[in-house]
Amino acid sequence: MAANPGGGSTDAGGGPVRHIPVLLAEVLEVLAPVAGKLILDGTFGAGGYTSAILRAGADVIALDRDPTAIAAGQAMVAAHAGHLSLVHSQFSQLADHAPHNGLDGVVLDIGVSSMQLDEAERGFSFNKSGPLDMRMSASGVSAADVVNRAKLADLIRIFAFLGEEKQAPRIAHAIEKRRAEAPFVTTRDLAGLIEIVTPRKAKDKIHPATRVFQALRIFVNDELGELAQALFAAERALKPGGRLVVVTFHSLEDRIVKKFFADRSGRATGSRHMPMVHERLATFDPIGKPMISASDAEAEVNPRARSAKLRAGVRTAATAEAADLSIFDLPNLASLEKLGG
Ligand SMILES: C[S@@+](CC[C@H](N)C(=O)[O-])C[C@H]1O[C@@H](n2cnc3c(N)ncnc32)[C@H](O)[C@@H]1O
Repeated sequence: MAANPGGGSTDAGGGPVRHIPVLLAEVLEVLAPVAGKLILDGTFGAGGYTSAILRAGADVIALDRDPTAIAAGQAMVAAHAGHLSLVHSQFSQLADHAPHNGLDGVVLDIGVSSMQLDEAERGFSFNKSGPLDMRMSASGVSAADVVNRAKLADLIRIFAFLGEEKQAPRIAHAIEKRRAEAPFVTTRDLAGLIEIVTPRKAKDKIHPATRVFQALRIFVNDELGELAQALFAAERALKPGGRLVVVTFHSLEDRIVKKFFADRSGRATGSRHMPMVHERLATFDPIGKPMISASDAEAEVNPRARSAKLRAGVRTAATAEAADLSIFDLPNLASLEKLGG
């Protein structure tokens, strides 16, 4: 679980927050960027990974679904003319941005950036009053749409599965009652109701709204579906010998990455949906330790790093497998499309 998923982040002076890249040295070690290589950074953010990869001499295609991150990255594009292209796109589409002869590396740093959490207007943080939005792409269904329109049973499923919130039914019932009187508009509207329904106890380490905010953010941005599709896309877009490096911040996402590498490296024994009836060739070989986490020194300086997990694999020459989502056993949740419009 992320250390502070919806709490926002502050610096000592209360000024704008800088995004500190997590596990950067470890990412560079497994990604091995050098001159002549082409790396796709699927989560540009503040460009922390991208600029380190460029400094190592490789070329970069960087993507971000957030138009604000793309606008802020234009100075970096100008400074690295010919070596960096920055594209407004979701990482599930990354294969569309790869050259025909393939990529040497793909890196994904999943989740929200400190800038997104810090900007009240984006509605990610229960600590800051802003519109109940949470859309990284600034389009589509917002968190307010979900809270005001989803069926009671769907709200319970979203909070329970994506937030692992034990009080999901109680919170969802309270939301249903309150929205019949007035729709939810701001982050504080929702956080205030959750504070009343499930008050914080002395032993609680996190704010009572943490898990619900996390669940809404993951749902609104279809974060699990995006990650699963990005892994399949990377399998199609990497050259033999190319490296896939993924950093996640909570257990649901890490489980997807772990299952993918287990399935693709031949370590999975088949799932209940897809028993292994024929021998399959591994499309990824493991690199180094199965999972890398932050050193004590990094976790001390950057609390976000405490929950980070890195997994990586090297692409073999075997043909990419079918993009079958059943290998992930994803929860069956309400569809975003039905809530839209
Ligand atoms: C944790 S930040 C990345 C920080 C970056 N590694 C750095 O060092 O500055 C995650 C970024 O990924 C972006 N993002 C999240 N989901 C995405 C998706 N499905 N497709 C593209 N970008 C996404 C977010 O908008 C955010 O800017």
